[in-house]
Amino acid sequence: MSTLKNRLTAIVEEAFAAAGYNKELGAVTFSDRPDLCQFQCNGALTGAKIHRKSPMMIANDVLPNLSENEIFKSVTVAPPGFINMILSDEFIAEEAEKMAESDRLALPVTEKKTIVVDYGGPNVAKPLHVGHLRAAIIGETLKRLARFLGNDVIGDVHLGDWGLQMGLIISELYREQPSLCYFDENYTGEYPAESPVTIDDLSRLYPQASARSKEDEEFRMAAMQATKELQNGRAGYVALWRKFLEVSVADLKRSYARLGVDFDKWLGESDADPYVAPLLKILDDKKLTYLSDGALIADVAEETDEEPMPPVIISKSDGSQLYATTDLATIIQRAEDFNPNEIWYVVDSRQSMHFKQVFRLAKKAGLVDDDTVLYHVGFGTMNGSDGKPYKTREGGVMSLSVLIDSAKAAAKERIEASEVAKDLTDAERDDVAEKIGIAAIKFGDLINHRARDYIFDLDRFLATEGKTGPYLQYTVVRITSLLNKAMAANAAPGKLLPPQSDTERELLIKLFSVGDVLLRAFEDKAPNAICEVMFDIAGLFNRFYFENKILAQENEEIRASWLGIIELVRRMLLMLLDIFSTDVPEKM
Ligand code: ARG
Repeated sequence: MSTLKNRLTAIVEEAFAAAGYNKELGAVTFSDRPDLCQFQCNGALTGAKIHRKSPMMIANDVLPNLSENEIFKSVTVAPPGFINMILSDEFIAEEAEKMAESDRLALPVTEKKTIVVDYGGPNVAKPLHVGHLRAAIIGETLKRLARFLGNDVIGDVHLGDWGLQMGLIISELYREQPSLCYFDENYTGEYPAESPVTIDDLSRLYPQASARSKEDEEFRMAAMQATKELQNGRAGYVALWRKFLEVSVADLKRSYARLGVDFDKWLGESDADPYVAPLLKILDDKKLTYLSDGALIADVAEETDEEPMPPVIISKSDGSQLYATTDLATIIQRAEDFNPNEIWYVVDSRQSMHFKQVFRLAKKAGLVDDDTVLYHVGFGTMNGSDGKPYKTREGGVMSLSVLIDSAKAAAKERIEASEVAKDLTDAERDDVAEKIGIAAIKFGDLINHRARDYIFDLDRFLATEGKTGPYLQYTVVRITSLLNKAMAANAAPGKLLPPQSDTERELLIKLFSVGDVLLRAFEDKAPNAICEVMFDIAGLFNRFYFENKILAQENEEIRASWLGIIELVRRMLLMLLDIFSTDVPEKM
């Protein structure tokens, strides 16, 4: 079903056309002055130039075609030519009732597309760090939003599992345990089922190797050699690499699960490998590559470029492939496997040049159709209070699980100090703390437009007031407890009556705007607007709750209608929280 705003637009467009004006002028928006009206149309102002008439004249010509419509309580013209609309309370109640009767609260769907969302991008054997946090939570939200709106969506983690870090770890492990069968080139037996390393080994081996490679040129060469041999299929290295992958992915899945993040595909850069040869052939056939200092490169600059656009390096003189090569090969794989209409890359904005280059070359080479959308959903950095990318106290990169644990610990402290603590067992306190901590982190991030940097401020994120995850959770908990109390008193939600107060009216109109907000967020690939509407809804509910003694209301019809409204609010908040993959504790 089309959103209320779009249906009103259709009505106003008709009214413009019937008065002899351009139909397109009839676009309706939610009013920015809810004290004056609920909806407005500014088309008469735009129309003045086209029709060479004053905006007031146009608006007054259109007005009679609208005033007759009984969905409106009033339609008025305000200088310099706004058309202001207020819906009738009966119509508002009907719309609210329709919403309540619908499983998905009458929220819209979009024209169905197949969309691949590439997000996460963790590197095997390196721990997840806060830089991967934003990719995970923004990507998960966008994936769920696109799916909620009816699209076929494939979330792919795109593991970094094929680069130099693999050779580094192989070489480092060789230093520690040279006698492992994986290193014996003459070994012909089966490789052991058990992994020779644990996740702790991996987290130790990588930094060790990385530091060594910076000081020890020979070690670095050996690691590059090992990487190449792995990529060429040396049996022992491949077997070892599989173990690294297994151990690492199991660990990644645990961290992601805590964040409510899950992927449909656990493909990695290595899965693009079979597509590299075909890629090179296509580029060669189309004469897009040439040799420069032994490296194979491709030009992607365009005449209209305002900033320099360096060529894409496809392979270096030693034959090793680069980041861009993998991304291009992956595009061929995705086109083959999913034939997507769009591919979204949820990756740090600092990689924007990389994606510009990759997208241009992909189009030039015809890896995807001209109308396939390749989109870099860039995001800013999460900073510490010093305004610089978030670090540990020692100045190192903070691992994601440590970050989540710290949010959980802070949430737990608050719970222990609060009223509800006495009603909760230890295990329950732990569960509640985890849910609150995660919501705090997620909404602290997602309330900001993704392109913006923000400061990680746990105290602020955990507050139950303000635009925070815990505030939303708390609002739902409050509504649930109210509904439970009502049930216990045999008072059930019932038919929605025309609104009794301004707050009630405003709350319902706000609920009617959610569909438009979702469409907008999808269009912009920016979920922060959804956060804003959730906070608006929660705020209006809290005002409504404060203004009315709901359970004590003696008129049963009014009470049932009020309970119906808050049940609607609860369903809406939960449905939206689900897009954010955020749980609500039972008590808090
Ligand atoms: N692994 C990369 C990193 O840690 C991110 C990968 C992003 N996705 C992509 N298709 N390039 O920086």
